[in-house]
Amino acid sequence: MPMEPSGPATRLLREEHRTLESWLDQIARIQRDWLADPLPVLRVTVEEAWVLIRAHYAIEEAVFFSALRAHFGELVEKMEDQHERVRELAGHLEALLRVPEPSVREFQDLRRLTREFQSVAQHNILEEERDLFRLADRLLPAAEQQDLHQQMWERHSAEGLFGVRAARL
Ligand SMILES: [Fe+2]
Ligand SMILES: [Fe+2]
Repeated sequence: MPMEPSGPATRLLREEHRTLESWLDQIARIQRDWLADPLPVLRVTVEEAWVLIRAHYAIEEAVFFSALRAHFGELVEKMEDQHERVRELAGHLEALLRVPEPSVREFQDLRRLTREFQSVAQHNILEEERDLFRLADRLLPAAEQQDLHQQMWERHSAEGLFGVRAARL
């Protein structure tokens, strides 16, 4: 995250995406290797990742999507649906991660949910950058981009989230 906001709003969102991807890559590795007891590391990693993803979605929706809805309503709605799906998956995942001694069946569900959570969240990043951000960069006036950047930066720098958590990677 830059020391102070400058440039388009999409710059901040892309930077946050890179942090989220580091966490999603860790989750993908855990899912792939699936060690004898993946639970301790999976619990911590999903919890940390989800704090950041949730915060990212919150500013994206409240500030960026709100401003873009008038121009690219359909695309914004599609991105919101993906966020909703990730939230749903995170809820299931968190519930299963709280089970003290999961059965074989629950372990299978856990692995499947972990993969789906990781892949939908990663896909959302990809589609945003490929479609929505590209359009915004082309069509939104620079002053509006800068203003949205400022609004999102203030929220996240006040929460200190990305600075602190990204440093733990
Ligand atoms: Fe998103
Ligand atoms: Fe995003």
